[in-house]
Parts: sequence; C-alpha cells; structure tokens
Amino acid sequence: MSNRRLLNVLNGQTEKVPPIWLMRQAGRYLPEYRATRAEAGGFLDLCYNPEFATEVTLQPIRRFGFDGAILFSDILVVPDALDRSVRFVQGEGPQLDPISPAEIAQLDPEKVLTGLTPVFEAVESIRGALPSETTFLGFCGAPWTVATYMIAGHGTPDQAPARLFARREPEAFKALIDVLVEASILYLIKQLKCGADAVQIFDSWAGVLDDALFMSASQDPIRRICEGVRAEIPDAKIIGFPKGAGQRLLEFVEATGVNAVGLDWTVPLDWARDELQGKTALQGNLDPTLLITGGQDLDESVDRIMEAWSDGPFIFNLGHGITPQGNIDYVHQLIDRIRSYDKS
Ligand code: CP3
Repeated sequence: MSNRRLLNVLNGQTEKVPPIWLMRQAGRYLPEYRATRAEAGGFLDLCYNPEFATEVTLQPIRRFGFDGAILFSDILVVPDALDRSVRFVQGEGPQLDPISPAEIAQLDPEKVLTGLTPVFEAVESIRGALPSETTFLGFCGAPWTVATYMIAGHGTPDQAPARLFARREPEAFKALIDVLVEASILYLIKQLKCGADAVQIFDSWAGVLDDALFMSASQDPIRRICEGVRAEIPDAKIIGFPKGAGQRLLEFVEATGVNAVGLDWTVPLDWARDELQGKTALQGNLDPTLLITGGQDLDESVDRIMEAWSDGPFIFNLGHGITPQGNIDYVHQLIDRIRSYDKS
C-alpha cells in the first residue's frame, strides 16, 4: 500500500474512504483560476506555460485537498501539435480548420513529442510541487473525441459532421484514427515517464456512436492505446472514460483492460457494482448539476453512490466535468459528506 490512495485503488485495492477528485477541478468556478487565466492571456497560453499550468493544477489541491490532481492542459493540444492550429475563442469554445482527407495523409504522430515540450515540462514541475500523497493524473482525449473536433472544426451537439465523415470517407477516417492512436501512445508514455502516476483517456463523445462505430472508432482504438502504452510501461495505470457507453461498458472494460472506468451519471448504480466492479475500479458518477444546487439532494445523491460502490475499488468523481456555475461551498459539502460517510 502506498500513501497515494487513488493509486492504490488503481492497483485493485479498496480504500475505506474512497479517494476523490473531480473532472475539470481546475476551472472557471474557481476565482483563483480566473485570476491566473486573466494573467496568462489566452487559454492555450495557460496550457503552454509550465509555471501557470503548475499553478492552476495545484489550486484545487490547495483549496480542497483532493486525493488526485490532473494535469492542466486540454485534449486539443494534440491536434495543435499536429499542426492543426487550435484557437480558443472566449465564450465560443475551441475552433480548428476542418481537416480534409489530403491533410490527414500528411499528419505525423511523432510531432506530439517535439510540439508538446512545455506540457512535459509542466508534468515534471507539477509532480515536484504536489504533496507526496496526491496521485497525479495525466490524460489525453480518445481518438474518436479528438477526431470529432478535427473534422467539424468546433463542438457540435451530436457530432453529425464526424459521423458523416466516417461513412463518406472511411479510409481517411481510419487513417485519422490510426494517427491519433499512435500520437496518444507516444504522448501518454512521455507523461508517465515525466512523473504522472496514471493517465485517463477521455472519450467524451463515445455515446453518439452505433455499435459498429463504437467498436471501430472508440473501443478498439482505446484498446490499442492501452496495449501500446503497456508495451513500453507494463505496469501503466490507465482510466478509461467512454462517456455514454451504457451497456457497452462491460465489453469495453474486458477488451481494454483499463484499471478504472469512468461512469457518467446515467449508469445504474447496482448494475455497475454487479457487472463491472469485480473487473475494474469504478470512478464517478455524481451528476455535476448537483454542484450547482447543493442541499439535501446533493447529500442523498452522494449517499446513494457511497452505499452502492464503496465496498469495492472506487474513486469518487462526477459523471462529467464541473461547470463554471459549480459552487465552491457545495464542493466542500460533497467532500465532507464522503469523508464522514458511515455505512453502519
Ligand atoms: O481540471 C481538469 O480536468 C484538467 C484540465 C482539462 C481541461 N479540458 C481544461 C479546460 C481537461 C482534462 C480537459 C479535457 C477536455 N477538453 C475534454 C474531455 C473532457 C470533457 O469535458 O468532455 C474535451 C471535450 C475538451 C475540449 C474543450 N476544451 C472544450 C469543448 C472546451 C470549451 C468548453 C468550455 O468549457 O469552455 C475547452 C476549454 C477548456 N478546457 C477550459 C478548461 C478549464 C475552459 C477554458 C477557459 O478557461 O476559458
């Protein structure tokens, strides 16, 4: 047993009080984040400045004492490093030039190693600055989710442009996924070598795919990333988050061999305990809107998750990222409730 409780859970252990972290825990709901963001200028200036990235990664750890810290960066720094210049426009989200089949043929996955030097410097600096008991998570976007932004050029409600592209240009689509698999393997290995204890693969848009595309564009690429990372680092700890995967989670867990699976708030608690928790650690799944409303509803929702999942390997988290409207007092309420929970 190490003193990093979140890492212990990724090693298959059950912690009496589950370790806690929140997706997007460094973000606009924190005044100190907004201040550093203003000082940095643009969002990418924050990501590519190791000092600022270290500062904002540490902010939620200082304020809340979370058990896990996640590298402050974005999944879209990968396409940015592959020369698909990403812009973050205030209030409008990320923007890229939609990629063409001819441009896909020119992509070089090795560019993540040279293009993301400041991110690797940030990883080293963050590990040095974190308390020794804090588990440090690196991450990348899954190929499908990153591809949706590269194809459409911006966020869309159901990723229709990328789904259409997959059908109209199956070869170019497969080539794009393959490049992103290679880039992700190199990127995650380097993060682990620079000091990350574990990595999370975010497939935020897995839930818009039919069975066949889920298999070829989400599950299988993530399986190949896990294999590729473990070929270099056999003991690598990996969390998979195929948001919206529903009943496909069981096969996803078996096929990829992830050490923990992120669950969104739609996943039935008893089903996840009975079908998944014997195979992998669970992570999730509180509805982030509860951090806007708080109160008894928040307490009861936390208790239901604790009741269902805390007897096995479990990491407390939200079912998706905390939003800018998230309330700091309710984050404290959440943490106090989990740490004082008594089942008997
Ligand atoms: O605290 C953390 O979780 C670490 C940092 C992190 C960010 N983005 C910071 C961020 C992580 C892990 C991500 C992942 C990410 N980025 C995903 C996958 C997870 C998810 O939320 O589904 C996706 C799809 C993206 C792409 C992205 N980045 C979008 C669509 C947006 C705009 C939406 C928004 O919230 O404004 C971003 C911007 C972004 N990434 C912000 C932060 C803190 C807000 C930027 C700002 O400060 O203006």
